[in-house]
Amino acid sequence: MSDRHMICPPKHVAIIMDGNGRWAKARGLPRSMGHRKGVEAVRETVRAAGDLGISYLTLYAFSSENWSRPEAEVNDLMGLLKAFIRRDLAELHRENVRIRIIGDRTNLRGDIMPLLLEAEETTRNNTGITLLIAFNYGARDEMVRAMRRLAAEVAAGTMSPDDITPARVSASLDTSGIPDPDLILRTSGEERLSNFLLWQAAYSELMFLPELWPDFTRETLIHAIERFQRRERRFGGVTAPSLAVGS
Ligand code: FPP
Repeated sequence: MSDRHMICPPKHVAIIMDGNGRWAKARGLPRSMGHRKGVEAVRETVRAAGDLGISYLTLYAFSSENWSRPEAEVNDLMGLLKAFIRRDLAELHRENVRIRIIGDRTNLRGDIMPLLLEAEETTRNNTGITLLIAFNYGARDEMVRAMRRLAAEVAAGTMSPDDITPARVSASLDTSGIPDPDLILRTSGEERLSNFLLWQAAYSELMFLPELWPDFTRETLIHAIERFQRRERRFGGVTAPSLAVGS
């Protein structure tokens, strides 16, 4: 099939990119090489997702729990993310990609957050695919931050507890304004969400792929989407609604 604009692709695909370390280990290489190869897979995936007509692609780049990895690995991942933004921002901008960062933006030292915010600012008015980079992201942390903001409004008397609705909660999350993911992929055979988009995943289709992230290609994405298109989504009803909730 043609990989240019599939018929009815999922609007929002989110990916837990897992298996970089195992990819490297299987080749007797340091873990850092797995992450390096992982960045190449990121490049290919962003381009492929745009070509296929996906509107939103969320990549779990660094979780709020990843800080517990050895310092050298954390530094390596930061370096790779910075290099990705520095090297690829101009091209992503040219390709009309809009970058958005989700995760806790506070209390981060170094130049990583300013760089990510610059990428967000530079591409703010682009109209192509939105690339959401989950950085220093954890779903429970995101929900706690949202709850605190809502609680502060209630305490200030600008909102009543009854005003807190699912829509209001969604609008208070880092993904405010972004439709919930239709499809969440995780590579490397692990079958869990690991604190990723827990609220937004309420009706997402989950797919766990055996491929390690560095081996993920355009074809892997196309194959996953074809499988997604064969699934019947009912959103709690008995028949598939014509329009997905949150889309
Ligand atoms: C999981 O593999 C992967 C990560 C924790 C980081 C993913 C980051 C990248 C691919 C690079 C930077 C991102 C962007 C958006 C440019 P793992 O190390 O947990 O693998 P393992 O489970 O096999 O050890």
